[in-house]
Amino acid sequence: MAESAALREAILTLKEERDAVILAHNYQVPDVQDIADIVGDSLELAQAAASLDHATIVFCGVDFMAETAAILSPEKSVLLPAPDACCPMAAMVTAGQLGLLRSRYPDAAVVAYVNTSAEIKAASDICCTSANAVKVVESLEESQVIFVPDRNLARYVARFTEKEILPWDGYCIVHEQYSLADVVRERRRHPSAEILVHPECRPEVIDHADFVFSTSGMIRHACQSRAEEFIIGTETGILHQFSRKCPDKRCFPLSPRAICVNMKKTSLAKVHAALDRMAPRIMVPEEVAVPARRAIERMLAIR
Ligand code: 13P
Ligand code: SF4
Repeated sequence: MAESAALREAILTLKEERDAVILAHNYQVPDVQDIADIVGDSLELAQAAASLDHATIVFCGVDFMAETAAILSPEKSVLLPAPDACCPMAAMVTAGQLGLLRSRYPDAAVVAYVNTSAEIKAASDICCTSANAVKVVESLEESQVIFVPDRNLARYVARFTEKEILPWDGYCIVHEQYSLADVVRERRRHPSAEILVHPECRPEVIDHADFVFSTSGMIRHACQSRAEEFIIGTETGILHQFSRKCPDKRCFPLSPRAICVNMKKTSLAKVHAALDRMAPRIMVPEEVAVPARRAIERMLAIR
């Protein structure tokens, strides 16, 4: 306890010296969420990375998130305290595969979920997150849309648009684990609870949930809702934010198995080491960063 208080103090001192801001995703471990200046979903963190004017960004999340920050702010030092924290879904599509698909559908627009590599973003027309995917697709002139890499988010978007959506066959190894049986079991256990799920869940889970939101969307909804109990269908790290932002609500995980091991790789000790050494720093080569920035900024311009 005393050790982690000392670590927190040391991080705060280094943060001043480095003119740093700490951004953390909603799935991070509680200690890391508590030291962060901003905790949010992918869209909120990308917006923060684009607008804050600190010299250093410490990104407590997975690699594609830090890469997005580095693409948006090449003049800043973007540090990823756990450099091995990756998103397996982002690795499910390569630039070569996307190029082939594009040549088969030359009239289609390409939408890249932010959970992709910088190369995929660079080869896309626009990015999206779970918070704005429908708006992004609806903003396009094209009537055909290649959507990479998440098949579940693609199918979710397809429910709200007339456009033809061509989904890539990727998926999140965490959200894919939820089954209809989880929804039925938890609904029986907590009959007055609302079930909130992430759009990365399978279609049958989405069909039987009450609401579908990005991670921060779930928290906003719970804070404003008259309901007092919620079953949460996303990574369990988010429960810490529920207890901070709406402590009077009771939240239960849809499944305690929903843990993203990559999101758990960041610790206070690694945040401290990153600020101390100013490493590992994420840099994206300009020839990739320029077209990737275009796709991300096009998304950020959509309100
Ligand atoms: P959000 O953008 O909703 O926070 O989701 C990020 C993510 O990685 C979901 O698994
Ligand atoms: Fe990737 Fe899923 Fe982990 Fe999110 S929860 S970072 S999509 S593996």
